[in-house]
Amino acid sequence: MRLLFLGDVFGRPGRTVLTQRMPGLRRDLGLDRVVANAENASGGLGLTAKAARQLLESGLDVLTGGNHTFRCADLGPMLDSSERLLRPANYPAGAPGRGWRVFRPRDAAPYAVINLLGRTFMAAVDCPFAAAEGILGQLPADVPVRLVDFHAEATSEKKAMGYFLDGRVSAVLGTHTHVQTADAQLLPQGTAYMTDLGMTGPAASALGMDPEEVVARFRTGLPRRFMVSKAAPEMQGALIDIDASAGKVVTIAPWRLAG
Ligand code: FE2
Repeated sequence: MRLLFLGDVFGRPGRTVLTQRMPGLRRDLGLDRVVANAENASGGLGLTAKAARQLLESGLDVLTGGNHTFRCADLGPMLDSSERLLRPANYPAGAPGRGWRVFRPRDAAPYAVINLLGRTFMAAVDCPFAAAEGILGQLPADVPVRLVDFHAEATSEKKAMGYFLDGRVSAVLGTHTHVQTADAQLLPQGTAYMTDLGMTGPAASALGMDPEEVVARFRTGLPRRFMVSKAAPEMQGALIDIDASAGKVVTIAPWRLAG
């Protein structure tokens, strides 16, 4: 089973490159499934229902979320109604939507996607480690392919989650920082790990935003209105080959493509 897991889709440039490239990429790379973190696909902050539908229609199978998922209020009903849209599982009870799901497609092996949110240098949510433990206890035994998107800021927390879940899930993949890390690896018990997948959005930018206003805010300490960069987009993520019968990753490699 060949999977492309894309880092944070950022703003219109990220959505545009996906709509243009996804159909060809699925064919050219022989992809069985494509998952992307999409919490900042609308204006670089949040995700509207319209943008979520656009991404799903472009050829993405599942969209994951993060700390900005609930910023656009109109996404709430879709989080409840769409089976292909996830938000972090460790939000306190009462949040709309679901944090994990098992998918049983006709044309590929069954797989589970689990979405978790970090707590270090981020707003407080429930414990992601406890949430992961609880979800593992509910996953059906006949679904060994288990993919975790850990949307978190701190490399230490991400590494810890990788080792916590090592041997119990297929892959722990970090998102949120928009900077692709060079540490794709198989952990000792066989779980694939990468601290951050990077960003699918404007390449020459400050995490997707026009650098000018970001620099000004750092230099002055005053609030500035950030604008999505108009720079040419790049897609970033990880290309993963999985032995679907065992749920074990055979290879994981960082992947990037100029738009
Ligand atoms: Fe985030």
